[in-house]
Amino acid sequence: MLIVFGATHSTVLAAESAIIDPQSRSHPVHGRLGMVVSQEIVASQVGADILSLGGNAIDAAVATGFALAVTLPRAGNLAGGGFMLVHLADENKTIALDYREMAPSMASRDMFLKPNGEVDNQLARNSIKSSGVPGTVAGLLYAHEKYGRLTLKQVIQPAINLAAEGIRVNVDLSYSLKSRGKRLMKNPATSSYFFKDGGSFYELDDILVQSDLADTMRRIAANGRSGFYQGKTAQLIVDEMERSGGLISFDDLENYRVVERAPVCVDFKKNEICSMPPPSSGGIHLLQMLNILEKWDLQSLGHNSAAYIHRLVESMRRAYADRSAYLGDPDFYAVPVKQIIDKRYAKKLRRQINLKQAGSSSNVSPGLPIDPKTLVKGVKKAGAESIETTHISTWDQWGNVVSTTTTLNFSFGSGIAVSGAGFLLNNEMDDFSAKPGSPNGYGLIGGVANEIQPGKRPLSAMTPTIVFDQKGAPILATGSPGGSTIITAVLQVLLNVLEFNMGIADATAAPRVHHQWLPDRIGYEPGISPDTLSLLKEMGHSLDDKSRILGATQTVHRGPNGSTMGASDTRRDGAGAVPQG
Ligand code: DON
Repeated sequence: MLIVFGATHSTVLAAESAIIDPQSRSHPVHGRLGMVVSQEIVASQVGADILSLGGNAIDAAVATGFALAVTLPRAGNLAGGGFMLVHLADENKTIALDYREMAPSMASRDMFLKPNGEVDNQLARNSIKSSGVPGTVAGLLYAHEKYGRLTLKQVIQPAINLAAEGIRVNVDLSYSLKSRGKRLMKNPATSSYFFKDGGSFYELDDILVQSDLADTMRRIAANGRSGFYQGKTAQLIVDEMERSGGLISFDDLENYRVVERAPVCVDFKKNEICSMPPPSSGGIHLLQMLNILEKWDLQSLGHNSAAYIHRLVESMRRAYADRSAYLGDPDFYAVPVKQIIDKRYAKKLRRQINLKQAGSSSNVSPGLPIDPKTLVKGVKKAGAESIETTHISTWDQWGNVVSTTTTLNFSFGSGIAVSGAGFLLNNEMDDFSAKPGSPNGYGLIGGVANEIQPGKRPLSAMTPTIVFDQKGAPILATGSPGGSTIITAVLQVLLNVLEFNMGIADATAAPRVHHQWLPDRIGYEPGISPDTLSLLKEMGHSLDDKSRILGATQTVHRGPNGSTMGASDTRRDGAGAVPQG
């Protein structure tokens, strides 16, 4: 049976798909079906159509990625960056693609500091200087060229059509544009692209046409990478930089490189978990927390009991303390990956945890016996190939799997669009540590490992993840937006499935908690019981003043009978899982 969860309402919708051919369901060779899950259902449909055309999971992810740049402008993008895990069934191999933005060559360590030495958050987050050199187009094209089956035109054309013919404005788009209207209307190009006559709002069911974006995507379809990083699109980007005091140059665009990296993997009880290595912190800390947690019988504590949440929080506290010191772009900083995901290190951290009483972040420091300053590489590794974020999970009939998270950083990025090119610029430079100890937009703190250097990639929390069974076959692909809360959201979905045996709908919907060392407070969602919160307080934990939403996962799960299930998180409107027709 194949189940689709669409997230157009605040309740989980589960419907047996009516459009699946029963023949294909019992296909004797493959025994599993294609599925696309993303934050916007029209884009998921584009991916599912690509699967039906004979495309593989990589084609579907790339087509969905381009479609999201049209249908979900707050997070889908051409001028952002991201990470992609690809599992290739034939070769039984999983690779990690790093298409994170790079700091422009004119960037410098103190570029966001005011004369008084404080961080200028406006400059770091909402200015033309907030943008790193975009990686998304290079990343999607790299994945397609190396691992896809269809032509580039086939995978981009649906997105071009959506931009040129217009999309029907849904609740999420209308709301997100209204709620960010004041910020977005400050930029004339953004105003002209996303507001009627530059000043009034698109309402539900209005049609939003994005002609300049369609033209940019036509140039990419015709010329590949150089349709974005050279020629007219590059000229439009550099013109925008020159007009507004930005740093990205023609050379920066031309020199942008995708890096193919080895994923980080550990065993968690009966499964192997693989995730994104640095410059994401997501994979390492996900695995570190799983390592700490694996020796406890979590199930017997009860899901979301105070005893369980206490163990989660104390593991999170220690992982995020390490993140603040040892994580950065591995091409510039010798991130101690092996040490952080070492099971013996997890044992040491687990032993520090008092099971009856809350720890205190002021007493928990980065835990490795290493001075973070000694890991600086100093020189750039030459010529390496290299609210808002969104995740795509795809699965094809051959068992190839893609798990990719992409972002502009904040919702609608810097809010600045490239005039004439139709797309928004990211504000990913804020993910660097502008000053040691000074929090970024998600309250995350860093130091020398994540300081700004030309050509360096800002540290990320994005956590595209694939889980494997004992035979090495993929069983789950997931990831989430949510800034600093991404890693802990993914952690809890995995534990819900692997430890608490929940179906993927329940695992997705179950209320989550979050802790990131500093500030020393537990974030919690509506649905964590007041009794539990009281018990946590009695143990000495501090809690956020009120509940909030943590993450929005997009997951494909293959059940024990070989069925493929898609689960779109219901926390944000408009998402959807679409099976291959
Ligand atoms: O890479 C990161 O960790 C952040 N730029 C992600 C931002 C994000 O998830 C915003 N979405 N809600």
